Amino acid sequence: MENNYHVPVLLKECIDGLAIKPNGVYVDVTFGGGGHSREILKHLGAAGVLIAFDQDPDAQRNKIDDPRFHFVDQNFAFLKNNLRLLGYKEVDGILADLGVSSHQFNEPERGFSTRFESALDMRMDKQGKLTAAEVLNTYTEDKLHKIFGIYGEVKNAKSLAKAVVTGRVEQPIETLADFKKAVAVHIPKGKENKYMAQVFQALRIEVNAEIDVLESFLTQTAEVLKNGGRLVVMSYHSLEDRPVKSFLAKGKFRGEVEKDFYGNEQKPFKVITRKAVMADADELERNSRSRSAKLRIGEKL
Ligand SMILES: C[S@@+](CC[C@H](N)C(=O)[O-])C[C@H]1O[C@@H](n2cnc3c(N)ncnc32)[C@H](O)[C@@H]1O
Repeated sequence: MENNYHVPVLLKECIDGLAIKPNGVYVDVTFGGGGHSREILKHLGAAGVLIAFDQDPDAQRNKIDDPRFHFVDQNFAFLKNNLRLLGYKEVDGILADLGVSSHQFNEPERGFSTRFESALDMRMDKQGKLTAAEVLNTYTEDKLHKIFGIYGEVKNAKSLAKAVVTGRVEQPIETLADFKKAVAVHIPKGKENKYMAQVFQALRIEVNAEIDVLESFLTQTAEVLKNGGRLVVMSYHSLEDRPVKSFLAKGKFRGEVEKDFYGNEQKPFKVITRKAVMADADELERNSRSRSAKLRIGEKL
């Protein structure tokens, strides 16, 4: 594996959270550089199994040569079906380390970073149909307004959407420079980096349907985890953390927990982490990517 592909975040905390049984079946749905997967394998015995998912073909170069390891080149939205295809109806633990890897972020042609002057792509799955440029050039003003506002929490989302729709008539928005040219007057002075990061977050979430995929994945975890099995999820912004927190606490994404006739709560998980686990000072110093990480753990009831 390339050393700089990705440095795993909260590695010990994730492994402890999985409470690994040596002969258990574990799933790492965000393989990336394989940092967490390698550590899981260290805790598994000869009869243990690790199944890793990643939708980015680049991650396949990090595949682990080990008879206990299976790689699935699919979106984790298809967790349950792929586990069945491999012959597993139930598993002992699932880990998700959401978002993009350092590798994806640092490759200019992937278009994830505002640091590079490149095409606005942002697909995690390189075969995916929708790119960020397509979102900007084809979506209605209303839809762009919602995406910037809800996924990016951009304050002037309405005027930004209008500027995109007006600007693209003159020249399609294909690159970061095209985008900046079209919306220049709306980027707050002195806050350009933060603003662009919010816009990029919004586009990335839309391109990869990240919120829908996350909700579908979480729902399936409750169906495939054995009783007592662990779900460990690490997120990097509040739009991801909110559904994770809500699903673990209430078994749903909106509204209050369901109760049966006797008032017993109907929910699939016991929350192990009352408060999200975050990186300590030592890790923050070693790895700036750990800055926004929030880890939540649930145990299947
Ligand atoms: C933050 S990185 C994981 C890093 C990994 N834990 C490590 O230590 O190297 C996230 C990875 O998950 C993949 N990924 C994100 N969303 C995915 C999805 N819905 N389905 C499959 N893979 C996904 C990305 O392509 C990326 O490689």
